Amino acid sequence: MKYLVVGGSKGIGKACTEQLLEAGHEVIVAARTNNAINHLPVEFVDLDVLADVSALEDFDELNGLIYCPGSINLRPFNRLTEDDFKNDFNLNVYGAIKCIQTCLPALKKGTGSIVLFSTVAVQQGMAFHASVAASKGAIEGLTRALASELAPNVRVNAIAPSLTDTPLAEALLSNEKKREASEERHPLKRVGKADEIASMAVHLVSENGGWITGQVIGIDGGMSRVR
Ligand SMILES: NC(=O)c1ccc[n+]([C@@H]2O[C@H](COP(=O)([O-])OP(=O)(O)OC[C@H]3O[C@@H](n4cnc5c(N)ncnc54)[C@H](OP(=O)(O)O)[C@@H]3O)[C@@H](O)[C@H]2O)c1
Repeated sequence: MKYLVVGGSKGIGKACTEQLLEAGHEVIVAARTNNAINHLPVEFVDLDVLADVSALEDFDELNGLIYCPGSINLRPFNRLTEDDFKNDFNLNVYGAIKCIQTCLPALKKGTGSIVLFSTVAVQQGMAFHASVAASKGAIEGLTRALASELAPNVRVNAIAPSLTDTPLAEALLSNEKKREASEERHPLKRVGKADEIASMAVHLVSENGGWITGQVIGIDGGMSRVR
C-alpha cells in the first residue's frame, strides 16, 4: 500500500512514517525539512502547506493520507489577534483542505483513507485554547462532512490527542516542573507518546480500520472523559 504523510518528518507524523514502513508499506513524506528522517527509505516532497501544494498532484494512486501539521498557540482570549486565529486556521484546517483536494483523485483511485488531527481541547473546554480549539473544532466538522460526502470510496477520521511528547509540545514540557504538572492533570498520570497516537492513525488508514469512518477518536490519557 502507498501512504502520504503530510508532516511526516517530526513528532506524531514521523512515528506514523516509521510504523507504516515497518508494516512494509510505501511512504511519501511531505514537509519543509527531512533532517530527522533522511535515514528512512521514503519519497520526500519538500513542501510548505501554507504555500503551494501542487507537488502533491503527481501521485497516481494513494491508499491513505495522514495530515499532521498543527499548532498549540495558547494565550488568553483577549491577547489573541485576528492573525493568530487566521494563522492557526490556515495551518490546521486550510492546509488540510488543500492537501485533500489535491490528492482526492489519487485517494479515490486507491480507495484511500484520510486521518486528520483535532485536540482534546475541543471536547473539554480549556482556558487559553480559544484559537486552537476553534481550528480543531473545524477539523472535527470537516471530518464528518467529508466522511459523508466521500463514502463509500474514501474513509475520513480524526484523532484528538491530549498533550503528547513531540517537538510541538516542547515548550510545554521544557522542565521537570511543567512535565509533572501536565502528567498530574491527566487521569492516567502521564503525557502521551508519539507512537501511541501514530498506532491509531496507522490503524485508521489501514485495511484493519476499513469499517471506521466519520469518527473523532480521543487518545488523551482519560482527559476528555474521566474525572
Ligand atoms: N503534541 C501534542 O501535544 C498535540 C496535542 C493535541 C493535538 N496535536 C495535533 O497533532 C498533530 C501532530 O502534532 P505533533 O505534535 O506531531 O506536531 P509537530 O511535532 O510540530 O510535527 C508537525 C509536523 O508537521 C510538519 N509541518 C509543520 N508545519 C508545516 C508546514 N507549514 N508545511 C509542511 N509541513 C509542516 C513538521 O515538519 P517540518 O517542520 O519539517 O515542516 C512536522 O513533520 C497536530 O495537528 C497537532 O495540532 C498535538
